[in-house]
Amino acid sequence: MDSIAQLLYLVAAALFILGLKNLSSARTARRGNFLAATGMFIAVVVTLFDRQIVEFQYIILGVIVGGTIGVTMEKRVQMTAMPQMVALLNGFGGGASALVAFSEYFWLPEVAGLHILITLILSVLIGTLTFFGSIIAFSKLQGLLQDAPVVFPLQKIFNGILLLAVVVLGVIFILNPTLWWILLIIAVIAAILGITSVLPIGGADMPVVISLLNSYSGIAAAMTGFVLSNNMLIIGGSLVGAAGFILTDLMCKAMNRSLPNVLFAAVGATTEQLKKIAAQRSVTRYTPEDAVTMLDSASSVIIVPGYGLAVSQAQSVLHEMTTFLMKRGAKVRYAIHPVAGRMPGHMNVLLAEANVSYDLLVEMDDINDDFKATDIALVIGANDVVNPAARSKKESVLYGMPILNVDHARSVMIVKRSLAPGFAGEDNELFYSDKTMMVFGDAKNVLTKIVQNLKDSEK
Ligand code: TAP
Repeated sequence: MDSIAQLLYLVAAALFILGLKNLSSARTARRGNFLAATGMFIAVVVTLFDRQIVEFQYIILGVIVGGTIGVTMEKRVQMTAMPQMVALLNGFGGGASALVAFSEYFWLPEVAGLHILITLILSVLIGTLTFFGSIIAFSKLQGLLQDAPVVFPLQKIFNGILLLAVVVLGVIFILNPTLWWILLIIAVIAAILGITSVLPIGGADMPVVISLLNSYSGIAAAMTGFVLSNNMLIIGGSLVGAAGFILTDLMCKAMNRSLPNVLFAAVGATTEQLKKIAAQRSVTRYTPEDAVTMLDSASSVIIVPGYGLAVSQAQSVLHEMTTFLMKRGAKVRYAIHPVAGRMPGHMNVLLAEANVSYDLLVEMDDINDDFKATDIALVIGANDVVNPAARSKKESVLYGMPILNVDHARSVMIVKRSLAPGFAGEDNELFYSDKTMMVFGDAKNVLTKIVQNLKDSEK
């Protein structure tokens, strides 16, 4: 039986790896999700059968209750609320690892190996920290806590002292493993650390934090795997830990920020600051009707979607407009910036929801040279990812971030509600350029008017 279980674990691990591989492209992401979920299903079933942990009726009850909650959440959650849902799920993963490791303590042989004791401590520490950190990340994104960074004096020193206390307590526990209550104290300190390390991070940086916490939840699971001597948990946890960390690194690079800067610099302007920054300079204003005339005469258009498109849920009407323009002979493509929106792949997922063909989505590096031969760069609810300050303004937080070269197009049309800056709180010179037309309004309203006009002109 054990060899069959190990073989099935191997199958599950291979499915996880194949799943991750497929997740690296929007085209194969659905298959990747399915493969990884199948791997997880096999792993769970084998574990429960193999170890005879609980009786059958409890397993079935668990599948029904858990499955119903999962499906309901999946059906109800808005795409824009996906980051907080992921935060919650990461948190549960971390919390579960900590609880399992803690309960396993009471089943350990009297003389447990050093590696078991160390991984037990790490699982309780990282798992609890992940749970509480994720709850704070969730609360910020859900609007239950203030979005802006919460900083208090000596924050880093305070967290440093807590970490030091964990090390000291860990050593005491290893020297005297019968002192089980030390694990409880470590859990309490980890909870405080989770809260105090996520509170100072601005709401818009939460996706990076969530990805990092995801990585932590994987590490906690792998540590629990060592405590339980369960290979599947060690492999699965390590994969999550590594994938989460790589994603975190990719996001930081795409924003041209270091991880310490995201974690400790408290970047993220408050709403009040954003209002003040909104510039009062003159711009060229276009109505949706003017926009139709321009778009109708363009033979090439590159659309740049951003966070505002997701806020306004304008993806379907945008797709409708694109179809119209293409029917009239224009070459239309979407330029996808790696950190457009608020989570990795945000724009890909949003546009896939509206059934936009993957062939029309082009990554930044592949499309940037094409802007100069394009009639109109149509920017919809994007701001930072097209802000030329990233190239020229050394003191800007955006400086060094690669941007989409919309300013190289023959003309630029920007749809947004006001002159307010985006996430980085940086004014955008592009708004005031001679070749830019600003079409003010909610993206969905503006695009609906444009589509209506296009339809009318066909009659
Ligand atoms: P942003 O720079 O945040 O700009 C979005 C713009 O959308 C805003 O200026 C806003 O202007 C507009 N907007 C909001 N609601 C709208 C609506 N209903 N209709 C029309 N426009 C609307 O977005 P971006 O260009 O996508 O850049 C993303 C930013 O988030 C980058 O700074 C990136 O580093 C950061 N970030 C991204 C990620 C990932 S992984 N994607 C993770 C963390 C941080 P108005 O208020 O004037 O309408």
